[in-house]
Amino acid sequence: METLIPTINRLQEVFLTVGAEIVQLPQIVVVGSQSSGKSSVLESLVGRDFLPRGSGIVTRRPLVLQLINVAPLKERLRTENGNGIKQNAKNSYPGIKAEEWGTFLHCKNQIFTDFLEIRKEIEAETHRGSGDNKGISPEPIYLKIFSPNVLNLTLVDLPGITKVPVGDQPEDIEAQVQEMILSFISNPNSLILAVSPANSDLATSDALKLAREVDPDGRRTLLVVSKLDLMDAGTDALEVLLGRVIPIRLGIIGVVNRSQHDINTQKTLQDSMKDEQAFLQRHYPSLASRAGSHYLAKTLSRLLMHHIRDCLPELKTRVTVLSTQYQAQLNSYGQPVEDHSATLLQIVTKFASDYCSTIEGTARHIQTSELCGGARICY
Ligand code: GDP
Ligand code: NA
Ligand code: MG
Repeated sequence: METLIPTINRLQEVFLTVGAEIVQLPQIVVVGSQSSGKSSVLESLVGRDFLPRGSGIVTRRPLVLQLINVAPLKERLRTENGNGIKQNAKNSYPGIKAEEWGTFLHCKNQIFTDFLEIRKEIEAETHRGSGDNKGISPEPIYLKIFSPNVLNLTLVDLPGITKVPVGDQPEDIEAQVQEMILSFISNPNSLILAVSPANSDLATSDALKLAREVDPDGRRTLLVVSKLDLMDAGTDALEVLLGRVIPIRLGIIGVVNRSQHDINTQKTLQDSMKDEQAFLQRHYPSLASRAGSHYLAKTLSRLLMHHIRDCLPELKTRVTVLSTQYQAQLNSYGQPVEDHSATLLQIVTKFASDYCSTIEGTARHIQTSELCGGARICY
């Protein structure tokens, strides 16, 4: 099955060739207070350990993470050896003998096949951009992860909301971080993943407060309640998860990520997911099928596809406007020039009709599909 994002990427290439503004990709942005579990949630979505996590301010620059679905290594090698379909050559990544790998914009030619090295590079680049004493920087780090096991998605990890300056942080750290977060989530093409820990009151949630500022109707905000395992004895999050405390239109999903001890003892993501399921079965049996990292991944895929579908009419309008402008410009030159805009419009129209049906089909498939390994977003 063809996927959505490569098509949007192709669309962007066309836009670029006619010198038009780039179409904004839908992206998923995590927001929340410091140490609420944002980086942990993103890792479980990708299905790999590669993000710096921990107590205190660890994420100090935005990380724009583009997941790119590629063919499995075996298939890519076959293509490379000339037996495969030639037209896919562009996506065959010749010379890369890894199943999964990453690249950074700031060192484009380096291929990272070891995910520990990816984490180290994020840490090193964080130091380069924002010093080594807890400073922050709004300059994003761009990372691409190529894998046969991911859905094409752009995810953004952000520094957490913090109140009191520490280390080299400026007096107005709270305002600075808020501004940084708002610059990402005010983009109407962003889905907001508001992460709020179960062991603090939802009414005081910084994540929800910021999300509401830019999305008052809650049309693109999903609430993730983390740290279900850390609630006081005798309390649970049932009322919160059922939306009885604060209703969230797109849904509320409880998760259990790895604790600091789990990280220190190198508990694997797979073991963590198994334990998460067991925990949910034990403590929230009625909700277990609608909670957890895997369910979060499935929900996001579905929301993302709806989101893209909803953006299509606007995309078409923009192209039509561009086309008209382009035509007017051509006319003012008074001589025939090759008109790319018609092709552009054709591509968008075809895109709209093809992919609306694909989206529906995929959404149905996701709802009925078997659980796949990890929390990975799968078709
Ligand atoms: P971020 O600052 O929001 O990105 O949060 P991190 O993902 O870095 O996590 C902060 C700390 O909280 C780490 O020590 C994690 O191990 C821990 N943590 C995150 N989620 C959970 C959870 O669901 N349960 C437990 N017990 N610890 C968690
Ligand atoms: Na943290
Ligand atoms: Mg973080």
